[in-house]
Amino acid sequence: MNSRFGWFGSCWLSVKNRQFDSGIALVVLVMLGCGSAPIDPTLTTTIPPTTAITLREALPFPIGAAVNPNLITGTVAYRQVASKEFNSITSENHLKMGNVHPAQDRYDWTGSDVLLNFAEQNKQRMHGHVLIWHQSLPAWVTNFQGDSLAWEAMFKTHIQTVIAHYKDRLASFDVVNEAFADDGTLRPSIWLTHLGPDYIARAFQYAHAANPGVKLFYNEYGHEYSTKRLAATVALAADFKRRGIPIDGLGLQMHTNIGQTNANIENAIRQTAATGLLVHVSELDVRVNQAKVAGYVLTAADAQLQRQKFASIVRAYRTLVPAAQQHGITTWNLGDGDSWIPSFCSCQDFPLPFDKLYAKKPAYDGILDGLK
Ligand code: XIL
Repeated sequence: MNSRFGWFGSCWLSVKNRQFDSGIALVVLVMLGCGSAPIDPTLTTTIPPTTAITLREALPFPIGAAVNPNLITGTVAYRQVASKEFNSITSENHLKMGNVHPAQDRYDWTGSDVLLNFAEQNKQRMHGHVLIWHQSLPAWVTNFQGDSLAWEAMFKTHIQTVIAHYKDRLASFDVVNEAFADDGTLRPSIWLTHLGPDYIARAFQYAHAANPGVKLFYNEYGHEYSTKRLAATVALAADFKRRGIPIDGLGLQMHTNIGQTNANIENAIRQTAATGLLVHVSELDVRVNQAKVAGYVLTAADAQLQRQKFASIVRAYRTLVPAAQQHGITTWNLGDGDSWIPSFCSCQDFPLPFDKLYAKKPAYDGILDGLK
């Protein structure tokens, strides 16, 4: 040991900056045994302090979050976490029909503009959510009067206007969301009533015609607990392939909970990947208070179970989806205080990787655990 540099001084042979695929520059210290040759002391004094790796640096596929323009604009910590940790964002609500198309002759791009500008500033991909859904319908649509041709024209115009508006600035879009019921049949909706059962296919054709460069997704929930819904989604992909209907990917929302089995989650991901389409875990959150216990607070034990479930989902995605089909994993917002779950279930829950002050929870480490 060379005493001039202390206990470790003579062992450091080289320090290299190496660029990895994920885009992170890591300081790699290569220790090749203790030689007797003198070592440049600057090597040991210029090593920068280690900083925690972020999700966007660590993950081998895009990692996203659904975000909200009011929080992006108004909450510094939210903005920082959204830009630092994620390389993909989804508009949680502002491209839904009720927000973006409030009157038949008027579109409102205010919210989505905020998000897209933010994404571009931070070198993030933006995923558009959603063109056709049975919820978030503006009153002018629920009250719409017209024959089947008028309905078709209204449907087509909405899809094509939103798709074309941002040209290639949006990478991908959920074209249709939640068209199936739990039993795998088509969900009754205003669209099914007025446009007939093949409306899903036509939505994709209209979207593709408006911009063939945007990746088009069918988005659905419950694949991990409803085998019929999973089968219906897989059958839709096969039918589209047979008929030449343009579709690029399937979104698995994955609003799940710590009680869900890994086997069910893996089955959903495996069968979706077997379609050959892109696979997007599109709205991930993991509930801990499935029993809706009044006044529930997150316990250390449940936080660990949540960490394990995030890890299992990331691991299943990484190992079961071929790299070329990995569109990424998106969490449904950032912090527990922003989640839609408490208002949806009328209960206390803590389903996201950050707490309400945007500190990392064990669930955050779970995402990284999934890489191991
Ligand atoms: C939810 C949003 O998170 C809420 O803010 C909003 O009030 C209702 O919609 N499946 C979807 C998402 O596809 O669009 C939903 O988002 C959650 C369930």
